[in-house]
Amino acid sequence: MEHYIVKGGNSLSGEVEIAGAKNAALAILAASIMTNETVTVENVPDVSDIRAILKTIEVIGGYVEKLDRHTFRINGSGISKDTPVDNEYVRKIRGSYYLIGSLLGKYKKADVALPGGCNIGLRPIDQHIKGFRALGASVRLASGRVAARADRLVGSHIYMDVVSVGATINIIMAAVMAEGNTTIENAAKEPHVVDLANFLNSMGARIKGAGTDVIRIKGVSTLHGTNYSIIPDQIEAGTFMFAAAATRGDVTIKNVIPKHLESITAKLLEIGCQIEESDDMVRVVATRRLSRTNVKTLPYPGFPTDMQPQITCVLGLCRGISIVTESIFENRFKYVDELTKMGANITVEGNTAIIDGVEQYTGAHLSSPDLRAGAALVIAALAADDYSEIFDIKFIERGYEDFPEKLRKIGAHIEKIDTDEDKRNSCYASDNSDLHIPNRDI
Ligand code: EPZ
Repeated sequence: MEHYIVKGGNSLSGEVEIAGAKNAALAILAASIMTNETVTVENVPDVSDIRAILKTIEVIGGYVEKLDRHTFRINGSGISKDTPVDNEYVRKIRGSYYLIGSLLGKYKKADVALPGGCNIGLRPIDQHIKGFRALGASVRLASGRVAARADRLVGSHIYMDVVSVGATINIIMAAVMAEGNTTIENAAKEPHVVDLANFLNSMGARIKGAGTDVIRIKGVSTLHGTNYSIIPDQIEAGTFMFAAAATRGDVTIKNVIPKHLESITAKLLEIGCQIEESDDMVRVVATRRLSRTNVKTLPYPGFPTDMQPQITCVLGLCRGISIVTESIFENRFKYVDELTKMGANITVEGNTAIIDGVEQYTGAHLSSPDLRAGAALVIAALAADDYSEIFDIKFIERGYEDFPEKLRKIGAHIEKIDTDEDKRNSCYASDNSDLHIPNRDI
């Protein structure tokens, strides 16, 4: 079984390059099939969620050509409007639900398996459905699939009851080729919503206001091909920023948009890090033990829920008592049990974690409950003394490109190991420690 072995205790230092944003790429790749012309998308991250959506596009008849590791040429003209989207890839990822919006927008018909994704709490799609219905579609959920169809889609005024990234993106896609004007109120403002809108506008759509809570769309009859480069991944960048803080390191994170990182930067400054910023890089320096703070996750520009495990794991090492409130997903503290194994002193009550900072984590045998929690456990392991083993890394690989390699480049001791292979090679320690770690330096 593949897992990471981490030998903690090293301060991270050096430069790391951030990949394209996974969550923007999922939306943009789904939207790329809305034209029959060819679209070229650059800065696509090479992670398993993205490979799954590309595979899905191919399986339903789209043409996908890999020009290099991060650049893809896509043509959706071969997709039939009657093709159901139901395969092993669709059910693995959350972002596959963007094919409902893109196919409904293009063909006025979509039949897509309900999405998978990280188990971080209830993930209803009622707001997506409300939006599709407001545009004139009939929507049915049956046999694990969402079937939406319309004779015509007509622009509408849609008020979102909750701020939802996925629903905002899906409704934009369904509305860009509807007749007349659509207004989405209480829309999500995340950078990937803006990136999707910019991408669709580069294909001829007329979307205004993305990045504010009111988005206005004038329907167009057709979209055309484009060349587009995806924004850097705000959450990958933030993860490295917290890795620098946890290990009292000095890390320069390149290829970022510092504006997207403001809520993260603010918290790092509050706990005592030094931050330097320029056009497309941010440097995080931590020279001493950091101090407590409180955090509440909120929709953008608030502190992202996708950074909650990473900051909690840093606060677990800070002087004083911190409080972290998770207001977006109700099941996002599952990793706290794992941190506790490392000596963290954290109590979870409902959606709040009360963290009494300890001086040091100790290495442990850990399991990643989901993508961001898995990355947070790697950060904790890097800051711990001794070795840790982190299992279920398939979750981490959903959203982090070359995670161990990038960490190694800035001084981390981390290795990806296949246990079975390792055993076959007889280099597995029999008497090393309770951790059952390989008896070798990494
Ligand atoms: C997106 O999920 C991201 N996923 C998540 O990324 C991220 O955590 C989340 O936005 C919040 O930023 C993708 O972009 C593929 P939401 P999404 O709809 O769209 C409620 C990661 O680690 N809600 O903004 O599914 C919902 O329950 C992850 O990369 C409804 O009530 O999230 C939640 O409380 C995991 N009804 C809140 O809204 C709906 O119809 C926000 O969810 C939709 C959502």
